[in-house]
Amino acid sequence: MATGEPLIVLDSVNKWYGPLHVLDDVSLSVDRGEVVVVIGPSGSGKSTLCRTINRLEPINSGTITFDGQELPAEGRALAKLRSEVGMVFQSFNLFAHKTILENVTLGPIKVRGEKPAAARERGLALLDRVGIANQADKFPAQLSGGQQQRVAIARALAMQPKAMLFDEPTSALDPEMVGEVLDVMTSLAREGMTMVVVTHEMGFARHAANRVIFMADGKLVEDAAPTDFFANPRSERARDFLSKILTH
Ligand SMILES: Nc1ncnc2c1ncn2[C@@H]1O[C@H](COP(=O)(O)OP(=O)(O)OP(=O)(O)O)[C@@H](O)[C@H]1O
Ligand SMILES: [Mg+2]
Repeated sequence: MATGEPLIVLDSVNKWYGPLHVLDDVSLSVDRGEVVVVIGPSGSGKSTLCRTINRLEPINSGTITFDGQELPAEGRALAKLRSEVGMVFQSFNLFAHKTILENVTLGPIKVRGEKPAAARERGLALLDRVGIANQADKFPAQLSGGQQQRVAIARALAMQPKAMLFDEPTSALDPEMVGEVLDVMTSLAREGMTMVVVTHEMGFARHAANRVIFMADGKLVEDAAPTDFFANPRSERARDFLSKILTH
């Protein structure tokens, strides 16, 4: 459901960790409503790329704009950016001592100043949407990994983000729970959420992504429609990577 209006734009972004050139002249534009899957070998810079987009990591040169504005470095503008860019990590990072519903309502109440009753109502609707409304009063440790990850998605959505970043959201899950999380992500994609998704779930990439980005050594090596990428990867690196992940 790409709209042709850029929402996330990286222009010649460079980042070093000491001598390590972890993002090497990366340029990428993600349109509103577009779903971009990022793949590549371990250490290629996929997580770093995600973390620069909501400025969990600063960059050394180049520019990143979100919804027409260059990323703010600090203060209220940065807090606003973080609320507009939801992030879901491999580890669910839920608040262990808060209930499921409190995990989802805390941000809206504390950061966005929503009234508790309204936040609870919206929180319950979001939990329902990710299929776990009946777990609202439990604590994270009482839920399966797949359920916890769906709470993490609901929590990010509760901030009414303009985009969602997912960094290997299913990698820590037992295989039987991967599908329930991917289903939620697929329905979000269909509803038009702008998404950047680091994942090795190639089924999701084929069916839900508008584009696949292949990274290696901090460089954006390929940027193609999923059908083209899987049928005909242009680079040796991508062919080699695909042969490894598709054969196990
Ligand atoms: N805080 C840090 N300080 C120093 N080096 C780092 C830091 N974070 C990441 N790196 C290095 O930067 C490179 C890219 O890391 P990144 O986590 O972005 O890779 P990735 O593609 O997400 O890998 P994986 O598939 O294993 O998650 C790696 O070589 C990593 O060791
Ligand atoms: Mg990573």
